[in-house]
Amino acid sequence: MAFSVPVDLDLIAQRHSVRSYKNESLTRDEVSQMEEALSELPKGPFGGEVRLTMLDAKALQLKGERLGTYGVINEAPYYLAGAVSWGTKPLADYGYVMEHAILAATKLGLGSCWLGGTFSKSAFKQAVGLKSGEFLPAVSPLGHEAPKKRLVDKLLCFVSRSKTRHPFESMFYNAMGDPLTEQAAGEWAKPLQAVRLAPSASNGQPWRIKMTEEGFHFALAHTGSFQDIDLGIAMAHFELVAQSLQLNGHWQTTDLPETTLALWKL
Ligand SMILES: Cc1cc2nc3c(=O)[nH]c(=O)nc-3n(C[C@H](O)[C@H](O)[C@H](O)COP(=O)(O)O)c2cc1C
Repeated sequence: MAFSVPVDLDLIAQRHSVRSYKNESLTRDEVSQMEEALSELPKGPFGGEVRLTMLDAKALQLKGERLGTYGVINEAPYYLAGAVSWGTKPLADYGYVMEHAILAATKLGLGSCWLGGTFSKSAFKQAVGLKSGEFLPAVSPLGHEAPKKRLVDKLLCFVSRSKTRHPFESMFYNAMGDPLTEQAAGEWAKPLQAVRLAPSASNGQPWRIKMTEEGFHFALAHTGSFQDIDLGIAMAHFELVAQSLQLNGHWQTTDLPETTLALWKL
């Protein structure tokens, strides 16, 4: 079954990190719609196997298992968590697949927040039943956003300047290596804007994309495990918004020029 949640640039613009939640559960309908979206998740573009599940935080707490986030998140009724097995770029695969689930949650009006660092690894590993050969790179709370942010939430937004993004022209380039304007990007400006608005670890926005006749060459300004997750997230945003505009292309992830990590081939 193909991923059926419609994702356009408006939905991408609605998503933001939510760290303060209302103390209320998800409705049965929200849970079942999320589960349906999880059953339709695509495979990762680099070939790693990703599985994702919803964890009921209250039910686990009753069993004495606390899904801790060092106080960064409060009152979230559910968590999205999973595991990826080794592939060529397992973290990018995880970012790509989990961002589909995050956008499905956004579509339902639910809040989410990628957590790569501030979560208790052992509790989540146990809750997802991590097997050997698998690892758990990141999780996200799911729930209804609280009307007011807590102080820790405001501080984290301020520190990561989470509302700001680099200018379009400083992330995207033309075939000559010169800055790409939105006008020159033409119909591809929206998929590129979707990358620009993507979440990234510490709001680092490491994506650098070169538009050539062949397609869009995705690279990273700095590398590391979180940046690989950021790469996968950006690939999901680009592809889903291209699809919403009926713009064609497909991922090529092998036999690439040295600095290209993935190519959206036209
Ligand atoms: C891979 C990854 C890891 C992240 N880890 C954390 C984290 O451990 N704690 C946290 O509070 N936010 C974390 N974030 C959220 C980012 O800080 C946030 O996405 C960024 O500041 C942009 O803000 P926005 O999501 O509201 O657009 C992470 C984001 C990504 C993509």
